[in-house]
Amino acid sequence: MTILLIGASGTIGSAVYDALAGDHDVVRVGRTSGDIRMDMESPESIRDMYEEAGAFDAVACAAGNAAFNPLDELSEDDFGRSIQSKLMGQVNLVRYGLPHLGNPRNASFTLVSGILSQHPMPGSAAISMVNGGLEGFVRAAALDTPDGVRVNVVSPPWVSETLEEMGEDPSDGVPAAVVAKAYVDSITGSASGDVLDVRDYA
Ligand SMILES: NC(=O)c1ccc[n+]([C@@H]2O[C@H](COP(=O)([O-])OP(=O)(O)OC[C@H]3O[C@@H](n4cnc5c(N)ncnc54)[C@H](OP(=O)(O)O)[C@@H]3O)[C@@H](O)[C@H]2O)c1
Repeated sequence: MTILLIGASGTIGSAVYDALAGDHDVVRVGRTSGDIRMDMESPESIRDMYEEAGAFDAVACAAGNAAFNPLDELSEDDFGRSIQSKLMGQVNLVRYGLPHLGNPRNASFTLVSGILSQHPMPGSAAISMVNGGLEGFVRAAALDTPDGVRVNVVSPPWVSETLEEMGEDPSDGVPAAVVAKAYVDSITGSASGDVLDVRDYA
């Protein structure tokens, strides 16, 4: 399979790359790194990426930013940028990617949300909103995609490597390699319209 991996240089993306690269042709995409450069906040940049990439079988996204701040400190701009980046960036990967699929048979899009949609914490209003929006999107979009093209979202809890970088206890999270198992399942399995809870792969 040819797989476009958005955010391939990141904490989750690099583990997804390691899990897929032995068996598949993985094209690394990032804003400032990778085989193809693309800014998911820009619909034009997404369309340019698809033109440059040519035919592919799957898109996996491990990128997208959302603001983390107490509600009374979240600005209009914080909400807007969270929607533009993590939510609409990934929605547009699906919308603009559909016409470029080489063979729609078992083709798939795998997006990323996060556990804060289901288990919020103080400061997570914007990111919980965006994650919940993504989960609703994949459930519905999978009903509309042509030729059975599959659309799923991976929902990770805190990732151990990220907690470690933040100076927190990594054992409170799940290693990025476990998150990668959910991506592989989404890409190579038969699920569609699903929210893949990474805790099920630990
Ligand atoms: N880490 C966690 O604990 C955790 C938990 C739950 C959910 N998530 C979600 O998982 C996703 C990835 O998290 P992460 O921790 O792996 O992130 P990360 O380590 O910060 O990596 C982000 C990746 O996304 C790329 N990127 C950043 N902005 C981009 C843009 N505008 N357009 C295209 N690519 C862009 C970066 O590429 P360049 O380096 O080239 O800019 C990098 O490869 C995020 O949506 C995050 O909310 C993470």
